[in-house]
Amino acid sequence: MKIGLLGCGTVGSGVVEIIEKLKGSLEIQRILVKSPEDCKDARYTCNYADLVNDPEIDIIVEVMGGLHPAREYILEALTKGKHVVSANKAVIAANFKEFVETAKAHHCYFLIEASTGGGIPWIKNLQRYARIDDIFEITGIFNGTTNYILDQMHKSGADFDAVLKEAQKLGYAEYDPSADIDGIDVQNKAIISAGIAHNTYVYKEEVPVFGIRDLTCTDIDYFHRKKKVCKLLAVIRCLNDELAVYVEPTLLNENSLEANVPDNFNICSLSGVTIGDLKFYGQGAGKLPTANAVVQDLLDIASDEAKDYEIVLDKTLKVNNENETHAY
Ligand code: NDP
Ligand code: HSE
Repeated sequence: MKIGLLGCGTVGSGVVEIIEKLKGSLEIQRILVKSPEDCKDARYTCNYADLVNDPEIDIIVEVMGGLHPAREYILEALTKGKHVVSANKAVIAANFKEFVETAKAHHCYFLIEASTGGGIPWIKNLQRYARIDDIFEITGIFNGTTNYILDQMHKSGADFDAVLKEAQKLGYAEYDPSADIDGIDVQNKAIISAGIAHNTYVYKEEVPVFGIRDLTCTDIDYFHRKKKVCKLLAVIRCLNDELAVYVEPTLLNENSLEANVPDNFNICSLSGVTIGDLKFYGQGAGKLPTANAVVQDLLDIASDEAKDYEIVLDKTLKVNNENETHAY
């Protein structure tokens, strides 16, 4: 399988590293970068046409981030019959239905394991359980940057801005970290998870979101004294074909599992009528865990296992958050 890689930053360089180590059937044929100075060898180019028009390239891996030109590149790749793997939850959440339908129309795979939960095998497992069960609740600590910030503030009273800078240095944060601290990144992941679990497309405007930007050490200290820990949670509930989907900072009992999720880790939980409660835990952000999830998708395409993970968003469900309590 020959791959065209869009973007070679934190995640993209991890994908290159893992594929080179594998010495298997995957080969990076071309790498799209922004500037000619970033072209290290003949594989690099600043021209997307060199990838999307290359008949030898089977799969486009989109890890450049942002909404544009990521949307146009993904659609062009699918239209030209190339499979697409993307970690870019912002562009996926904004165009989920269009991507899924375009992939189907052109008999291509569109896989997005790395988009939610970083290295955690969440998306495909959610698909597996949704096949045979009614998933009535999903909750998640879906953002590594904010979990890292909250964890450091709780454990050592660290200053918000200083820890955010640290998270940026470690490669956890988005290019514009306000997406992390304002909860937008979690909102995107909630839209993706709701779509996967319920075969439906939830619009951004339907998902209220509240971030952690204004949280201070004084707040954290107060919660600590009350034996509470604050975490930024996504919640998706489904009752009688009606969905509630929202993102908000939530106070948890200090002994609960979620309250003890450290560092850049995420926890993605689902509750189904027959399976009961399941929790998936691991590194939710960072170069190699995320790249690992991307490479899992590539191997699934290479082995045709991807056929078991077709995404379908053909149901219309009402979204109603009125019966939920919110921080805002
Ligand atoms: P980076 O900013 O580290 O990497 C993105 C790379 O793409 C940069 O090198 C950037 O170049 C390049 N790029 C951006 N636009 C273009 C363009 N138009 N043409 C060519 N190259 C371009 O981001 P990450 O690797 O951290 O993230 C990539 C994607 O993966 C994002 O969508 C992110 O949300 C997602 N993701 C990230 C995770 C993480 O832990 N980092 C985890 C899960 C998903 P330049 O630097 O010159 O702008
Ligand atoms: N910025 C994101 C996070 C990257 O911190 O979780 C992983 O999706």
